[in-house]
Amino acid sequence: MRIVLVGPPGAGKGTQAAFLAKNLSIPHISTGDLFRANISQNTELGQRAKAFMDAGDLVPDEITIGMAKDRMEQPDAVNGFLLDGFPRNVSQAEALDEMLHAANMKLDAVLDLEVEEDEVVKRIAGRRICRNDSAHVFHVEYAAPKVEGVCDTCGGELYQRDDDSEATVRNRLEVYHTQTEPIIDYYKAQGLLVTIPALGEVAEVTQRAMDALKK
Ligand code: AP5
Ligand code: ZN
Repeated sequence: MRIVLVGPPGAGKGTQAAFLAKNLSIPHISTGDLFRANISQNTELGQRAKAFMDAGDLVPDEITIGMAKDRMEQPDAVNGFLLDGFPRNVSQAEALDEMLHAANMKLDAVLDLEVEEDEVVKRIAGRRICRNDSAHVFHVEYAAPKVEGVCDTCGGELYQRDDDSEATVRNRLEVYHTQTEPIIDYYKAQGLLVTIPALGEVAEVTQRAMDALKK
């Protein structure tokens, strides 16, 4: 299956993607995680992306699209993938369509995680991520680790993302409304959009998404 996850920052895309990718046996491809890995390895791509991410702006398409394409062309993605955070504007959605069309492939569904703004602000403010693996995501209140600051899964150190400060989050939400939301209509017009209410327990949301994909 080839699936796209959309939703505002903090909606739970990364959290859901980890479970859905496992259930569906497809790789989880997060452009945010790819950028963060490049930044921590201090690659040239990471150096180019960092200032945009720190400001909460989109990294330019000429950097992002090539990186996403390279990842989708890896051998583990030939039979499907779950995209998290890509595409993030209409030109990226068009580039993805072209890429898939050239390979004689198509998307199966676009899942839109729907949550109110107050809730996403709370989710982002309390988020803590493991330094060893960005799939190990916690929340100080909603998904607290057993020992404060320590990952339950691997014992790694938990940290708060640089772009999770209040001012940057405000800009990320603004960027989401102006640049990313238009892709919802783009995919609705293609008959691919499925809206998933993303309030409630993590497992409930996963179940809603799995049920929607079976239809
Ligand atoms: P990216 O890493 O994609 O960030 P984002 O879209 O802002 O999304 P988040 O990672 O903040 O949230 P999420 O929806 O994954 O939520 P999570 O599961 O962690 O992008 C970062 C930056 O990279 C961008 O600003 C941009 O600069 C750049 N970038 C990335 N892709 C790009 C692209 N395609 N083009 C250009 N630039 C790009 O959950 C949040 C918290 O809530 C966690 O603590 C979690 O434990 C908790 N939680 C989750 N579900 C629930 C629940 N059901 N109940 C209670 N708590 C929950
Ligand atoms: Zn960990």
